[in-house]
Amino acid sequence: MTENTSSTIVIFGASGDLTSRKLVPALYNLHRTGELPAHTRIVGFSRTPMSDEAWRHSLRETTANHTDDFDEPSWITFANNIFYQPGDIQKRSDFDSLQHKLDTIEQKRLATRVYYLATAPQFYWPVASNLGSLGMNDESHGPRRIVVEKPFGTDLSSAQILNSKLHSVFDESQIYRIDHYLGKESVQNILALRFANTIFEPVWNRRYIDHVQITVAEKVSVGRRGDYYDKSGVLRDMFQNHLLQLLMVTAMEAPVLFNAEAVRNEKVKVLDAIRPLDNDRVQAASVRGQYDGYRKEPGVSPASQTPTFGAIRLEIDSWRWQGVPFYLRSGKAMSCRTTQIVIAFREPPLKLFGGSESITREANRLVIQIQPAEGIQLHFHTKVPGEGMRLRLTDLEFSYSREFSGRLPEAYEPLLLDVMTGDASLFARSDEVEKSWEIIDPFVNVWESLELPPIPEYESGFWGPPVSAEWMEAQGRTWFDQCPVLT
Ligand SMILES: NC(=O)c1ccc[n+]([C@@H]2O[C@H](COP(=O)([O-])OP(=O)(O)OC[C@H]3O[C@@H](n4cnc5c(N)ncnc54)[C@H](OP(=O)(O)O)[C@@H]3O)[C@@H](O)[C@H]2O)c1
Repeated sequence: MTENTSSTIVIFGASGDLTSRKLVPALYNLHRTGELPAHTRIVGFSRTPMSDEAWRHSLRETTANHTDDFDEPSWITFANNIFYQPGDIQKRSDFDSLQHKLDTIEQKRLATRVYYLATAPQFYWPVASNLGSLGMNDESHGPRRIVVEKPFGTDLSSAQILNSKLHSVFDESQIYRIDHYLGKESVQNILALRFANTIFEPVWNRRYIDHVQITVAEKVSVGRRGDYYDKSGVLRDMFQNHLLQLLMVTAMEAPVLFNAEAVRNEKVKVLDAIRPLDNDRVQAASVRGQYDGYRKEPGVSPASQTPTFGAIRLEIDSWRWQGVPFYLRSGKAMSCRTTQIVIAFREPPLKLFGGSESITREANRLVIQIQPAEGIQLHFHTKVPGEGMRLRLTDLEFSYSREFSGRLPEAYEPLLLDVMTGDASLFARSDEVEKSWEIIDPFVNVWESLELPPIPEYESGFWGPPVSAEWMEAQGRTWFDQCPVLT
C-alpha cells in the first residue's frame, strides 16, 4: 500500500454476529494499538434501518463487551470513521446507493477497498455479482479485494461453482478466503518452529514420528445453531477447513520463499499427496458419533443421523510422511474446549529400562496447543532422583502469554491487516479449497449413505463415542485426551 492510499472496509452483514463479536472489535484493537493504517474507514451494509450514528452506538456496546482494553477516547477517534448504508443484497439499486456513499466518503480518491462477506453463504455470489455489475471490482481507483467467510461451498461441486462465479468478477489475486484459525499466533508459530529452527526439522518425518493427532474439541453443544448444523455436520463444519488447514501447516515442506504463492504451493502439495479412499476404506478409516440429547436441540430433526463427532485417518503418500497416519478429530459437547496438534514420536528402539513400567509411548510427544491458551509442551522421560532407574513423564513448556507480556492479538486482527496490505499467505487459494473438499467429500458421502447402521451416541462431556477409543486401540495407539495442557 502506498503512503497516500486510504482504505475502506465494506462489511456486508453489518448487523450480524460476526461483525459485532469479531470484526469490529478486531479493527478497534488494531486502531487502539496504532496498527490500523491511517485513514481506514468502515462501512456497514445490511437491511436493518440504521443511521451512521445508530450503528456506531450499537457497535460501541458490543465492542466494549468483546475487547479487554476498551477505552473511550480511542473509541471516539475510531468511531469517527464508521459509516452505515442500509440495503438489501438482493437489490441492485441498493448497491447504487452503496456506491454513492462510498464515493462520497472516499471523495473519489485512490483507496484500497475490502469487501467483507460477513453474511450467509447464499449471499456470497449475489454480493459479488452486484459489485461486478456496477464496476465496483474495477481497480483503477485502487485495489479491490473481497473476503469470503467460511463455509466455502458444501462439497466439491458447490465450491467449484462458487469459485467459477467469483472468478467471473474478481481475479483470484483479489479473493481472500478466510479461515480464522490461520490468524492464530500458535498456528503461524508452527511455521517458525519448523522452518526458523534446525532442531525440529531433522526429526519431522516418518523416521521419527509414529503418528500425528489433530483435535478440535468444543465443550459447547450446537445451541441455537441446530438448524444450520443439522444440515452441515462436523465434517463440513470443521474438517474441510480448520482441520485440513492445521494438517497442511504441520505436514508441508519448507517453501522456497515466505510469500503467498510459495506457501500455498507447498500446502496444496500436501493435499495432492493425501491418499484417496474408496467407500470401504472410508468406513475403516473413520468413526462418527452424535452426543446424547442432540436430537432434542431446537432446529434438529428428531431422527437426525448428523454426526456431531468425527475422527478420520489420512495417509500422506510422500517421502516424508509415508506410513505416518494423521488422525483428525473434532466434536461438540466434548470434555473440554481445545485445539491441539500432537506429534507422537516413535518409541526408542531398545527398551533399556525395561523393568520400569513407566516407559510408554506417552513420552516423546510434542503438543502444540492452539486454544484456549497458545503454546507448546514437549513430553519426555526423566529419571526420578534416588535409587534405580525409575522414570517419570516430565515436560518442557512454552506459553505465549507467559513469554510475551501483553495481549495476544485476536485471530482476525492479523488477517484483516493482511487483506488491507494485500498479503494472501494465510488465505486459502481456489485449488486449496477444492482439493480439501475432494478429500472430505468421500467421508461425507459414506457417512450420509443410508446403508450405515444408526450413528453411535456419546455422553456429553466425554471424548466422543467409546468406539473412537477402541478404533485407535485396534491400531495400537491411544488418543491424547488431556485437555487443556496449557492454561
Ligand atoms: N458468527 C461467527 O462467529 C462466525 C464465525 C466464522 C464464520 N462465520 C460466517 O460468517 C457469516 C456471517 O455469520 P453471522 O454469524 O454473523 O450471521 P448472522 O448473525 O446471521 O448475520 C447475518 C447478516 O447478514 C445480513 N443479511 C441477511 N440477509 C441480508 C440481505 N438480504 N441483505 C443484506 N444483508 C442481509 C443480516 O442483517 P439484516 O438482517 O439487518 O439484513 C446480518 O447482518 C456466515 O457465513 C458464517 O458462516 C461466522
